[in-house]
Amino acid sequence: MSEVILVVDDDTANLMLAKKILGNEFRIAAANSGEAACRYLEHNRPDLVLVDINMPEMDGFELVARMKENPQWRSISVIFLTADKNEDTEVRCFQAGAVDFVGKPFLPEVLTSRVKRTLELERYRNSLEKMVEEQAEQLTGALRRISDIQEHVIMGMANLIESRDGSTGKHVKNTQTYVRMIAEELERRGLFPDILTRDYIEKLCKAAPLHDVGKIQVPDSILQKPGRLTEEEYNRMKDHTSCSSAILDEIIGDVEEEDYIRLAKDVAMCHHERWDGKGYPRGLKGEEIPLGARIMALADVFDALYEERCYKPAMRPLEKIYQILEEGKGTQFDPVITDVFLSFDAPLREHLATRGW
Ligand SMILES: [Fe+2]
Repeated sequence: MSEVILVVDDDTANLMLAKKILGNEFRIAAANSGEAACRYLEHNRPDLVLVDINMPEMDGFELVARMKENPQWRSISVIFLTADKNEDTEVRCFQAGAVDFVGKPFLPEVLTSRVKRTLELERYRNSLEKMVEEQAEQLTGALRRISDIQEHVIMGMANLIESRDGSTGKHVKNTQTYVRMIAEELERRGLFPDILTRDYIEKLCKAAPLHDVGKIQVPDSILQKPGRLTEEEYNRMKDHTSCSSAILDEIIGDVEEEDYIRLAKDVAMCHHERWDGKGYPRGLKGEEIPLGARIMALADVFDALYEERCYKPAMRPLEKIYQILEEGKGTQFDPVITDVFLSFDAPLREHLATRGW
């Protein structure tokens, strides 16, 4: 199908002439005023517009200015037609956004070759735009797939590490769920607005599964010990926070742009810190402890109490766990985050019920 050219001229003889010259190779639409051209453009998209400059009411420059203001019409190529061939007009034509201009009266060969060249450029531009669009889509898809794979690898690795310490293997997923529940509720209540953006919450949830990666360096004999740990064993266990941090530091070195890894490092390093400063490894206090780690601390302890481990039964009823968390409010845990978690009772029970517990 041949391309469509809209010719806009108040002189019917010129419209007829343009049709005679170009009609064999292109489909010609004619408009005898700027207003008629606008009405045509409302419902049609020509491949090229030829516009006479001198027209009553709306002249060619005004028509083209309107086209450039309209996002739907902006990219349609324009060639001006003018009997006025002085340099100022020439400059104005290009300033208005035309790709070319043709002097009147038309020479058939000149008009035809200018039109053909412009349409060729137009085709080339369209194919380039399409190519860029397709490649951008492919790239977005590839990035999404890489990100999905990365998340699965992280979850798999974290699950493997967790399964060594006698948990049911669901600790990683569970804590990630609780972290999301807490963070979204804090955001909904307008708490910590400087930190808790949507972006931060997504990164925190992605970072959460990495909180105990350092346990890879803790021996099974300590991780799976049914009884009380000796002081030396306990110290070795506590080292998993610094080990996690060191492992994540190495990852950061290779993937600079992944700032969720930095957040993961904060969470891994500080999720055993306590609000009163008596935690480990650094004895940070209150808001010195990164927010993500304060959220993780609650999620981690709740899941540890709620789930069965090889060395301990699951704690029930839920009220017993609530009581422990309540007692830890302001000593072990951030009091604001504890209040939010304890207010979850109904949605939390609903969530636990969907998992068959
Ligand atoms: Fe931990």
